[in-house]
Amino acid sequence: MYRAAVLTISDKGFAGEREDLSGPEAAAILKSRGYETVHYAILPDERKRIADELKRLADEKRAELILTTGGTGFSPRDVTPEATLDAAERLCPGIPEVMRAASLVKTRRAVLSRATAAIRGGALIVNLPGSPAAVRECLLCVIDEIGHGLDILCGQTAECGRHYR
Ligand code: MTE
Repeated sequence: MYRAAVLTISDKGFAGEREDLSGPEAAAILKSRGYETVHYAILPDERKRIADELKRLADEKRAELILTTGGTGFSPRDVTPEATLDAAERLCPGIPEVMRAASLVKTRRAVLSRATAAIRGGALIVNLPGSPAAVRECLLCVIDEIGHGLDILCGQTAECGRHYR
């Protein structure tokens, strides 16, 4: 069972002005796929604070999967991808590429997602959009492959093999 952390990035959520439905949505999907969510928090849209927390969750809390929700759009306060890059050691462009491609059939505005994904040490960090529906749409289309990626990252398997679908 992999250890997961969920970070909701939202000024309004952090201030208690908006109920966070997206973080719990991500945690529910993780639970249904056998992940243990060991940490959940709401942070404001502040780049250094987000980056520091991503580093702490990867390095000290030893979460293998860190999901963020929100802060990936065009608003001047949206800095989640930049904070993720501050914590990143290696990039995983395929994950957001597939999320955006799958989301396009739901909304053309998926092109506005600036989400990224990256590896830091033994942790995979994946940005998700901020609405619960978007969290579901984006996470479900990559969650199976993320599991295989974590198996390789964490040394559970050395073989990618071929997986036809
Ligand atoms: N992806 C999916 N699957 N569903 C959505 O509704 N919304 C888009 C995009 N990706 C959306 C989506 C929109 S409108 C924006 S602005 C960006 O995600 C960024 O969202 P965020 O600022 O909440 O992170």
